[in-house]
Formats: sequence, C-alpha cells, structure tokens
Amino acid sequence: MAEIIDGKAVAEDVVAKVKTLAAGLKAEKGIVPGLAVVIVGEDPASQVYVASKGKKAKECGFHSVQHTLPAETGEAELAELIETLNADPAIHGILVQLPLPKHIDSGSIIQTISPDKDVDGFHFVNVGKLGTGELETAFVPCTPAGSMLLIERVRGKDLSGLNAVVVGRSNIVGKPMANLLLAANCTVTIAHSRTKDLAALARTADILVAAVGRPEMIRSDWVKPGATVIDVGINRVPAPDKGEGKTRLVGDVAYTEAADNAGAITPVPGGVGPMTIALLMANTLVSAYLRAGLARPSF
Ligand code: GUN
Repeated sequence: MAEIIDGKAVAEDVVAKVKTLAAGLKAEKGIVPGLAVVIVGEDPASQVYVASKGKKAKECGFHSVQHTLPAETGEAELAELIETLNADPAIHGILVQLPLPKHIDSGSIIQTISPDKDVDGFHFVNVGKLGTGELETAFVPCTPAGSMLLIERVRGKDLSGLNAVVVGRSNIVGKPMANLLLAANCTVTIAHSRTKDLAALARTADILVAAVGRPEMIRSDWVKPGATVIDVGINRVPAPDKGEGKTRLVGDVAYTEAADNAGAITPVPGGVGPMTIALLMANTLVSAYLRAGLARPSF
C-alpha cells in the first residue's frame, strides 16, 4: 500500500511559514503584502475559488481585495482595472480568475498584468524565466509549484536519474510542471491525448503527474511499482451510492487501485488542491519581499 501524501498538512506548513514571514515583514519594514483577485461574471465554481483565496489571504495577514465585475464587462475596461492595480503600491499580487467570459481574450489580458505582480506565473516573462531556469526571480504557477513541494517531500530536491511523465500539456499545469521537473534533473516526457500507448509510457515513470481533467483515467496497471503519483485532477462525478443526485470529487487517477502499485500517491481531495492556494499566498509574500529588495524566501 502506498504512502498517502498529505497535501493538506504540507499546505498548512506553507501557510504557517507565510504567516510568520508576513508578520515579520510588517514588524520590521511596515509592509503588508497585498493580493487583488479579479473575477468577471458569475461562474459558481470560480466564485467559490475566489472567495477561498480572499479568505486565506486575510488569514495570512495580507491586504486582500476582490474586484467583482459583471459578465458583460469589456476587455478594455478589464485592462484598465489591471493598469490601476499595476500602479497601486499596496498591491503585490494580481490574480485574474480564469476562465473569463468568451468575449474577452484571456491571453491578451494576462499580458497586461505587470510581471512583478503576476503571482499566477502566467505572463510571458515568468513563463520564459521558468523555461530558462531563472527560478530566483520567476513566479511559478501555483499548482505545479505546489505539486513540486509534494514530490520533494517524498523524493528530495534532486531528482537526478528519475523518469517523470506528465500527462497533460496545459499552460497552467502540464508545461510548467515539466519545466520544474527538468530543473530538478528529471528526465521528462510530456504526454497528451495524441500520445501513442499512453499506458506503456506512464509505466516508465518514477514520477507520474496526471493533469488531464478526465475522471479516473489512470489505472493501476499504468503505474510503475513504487512510483510517486501526483494527481492534479479535480472532477465532480455522480455518486448514486450516496443518494439520488449526489456527487463526489475524484482525480484523474483511479486512486484505490493505483495506490496498490504506487510508492506514494496524493489523494483527491486533500492532495494537490490545498497546495495551490498555499502557493498563491507564498507567491504574494515573495512578491512583497522582492519589491522590498529582500532575499527571496523559499518554501
Ligand atoms: N482557474 C483555475 N485555475 C486557476 C489558476 O490557477 N489561476 C487562475 N487565475 N484562474 C484559475
């Protein structure tokens, strides 16, 4: 039976460190890290995510603001708000919740965020820094950065000699995850929906990261015995056994059966999920440190 990687506990450690460092920054420099979260429209899942980000920021002692704009907001108007936040000295991190309504080009909007405040790590400057290994000044997307901390807990910081397979090639998870694993000396393969014999490829992985958004796609015979399995998927599926109309959350990995083969595995919920928000807090704190000319804290 695999070791269960307790993402909730690791996330609590990260948040505890953020709180301590934020309190120190305030006491010594009078600086309070500020996070602005922008949401456009009424997508219920996004509203829940955004509310929990704001709540966690307050818990960390941050200045936390939320801008809620109507679904019909124009791209120029949204860009104007971001310009205001870029210029606001009380704000160290700006997060525009995705997805945006269809009439707004999210790619263009992301590029209007100042790279110094891009705590999502989606701006080309931060993508480029990660791709070239400039990790000291980069903001790395929160989900892969959090997944990396979980991998480090099991395997240490240097992953030399290990094969990693990342299933999924999104800009938010798959590609930055692959870059982080490469920076840690893994031999990395990115697999996706067009990959031939995905199961056989997955079986070569000492570290297997699933980020495809397909419930329980990765079965136990895809998992090399002893592998570290990181499940980024959060899928809501019907759960008739719990009652009519009930649902449950499952990952991209068939957890119970995969746990028989894996050496260590993240559960869903309670694995990668809590790490994402913890790393958003860490990135916002890092932004405040860097602006103050202080050395970057590590997590
Ligand atoms: N929507 C889903 N995940 C994310 C994320 O990591 N950042 C932002 N801004 N929006 C998201």
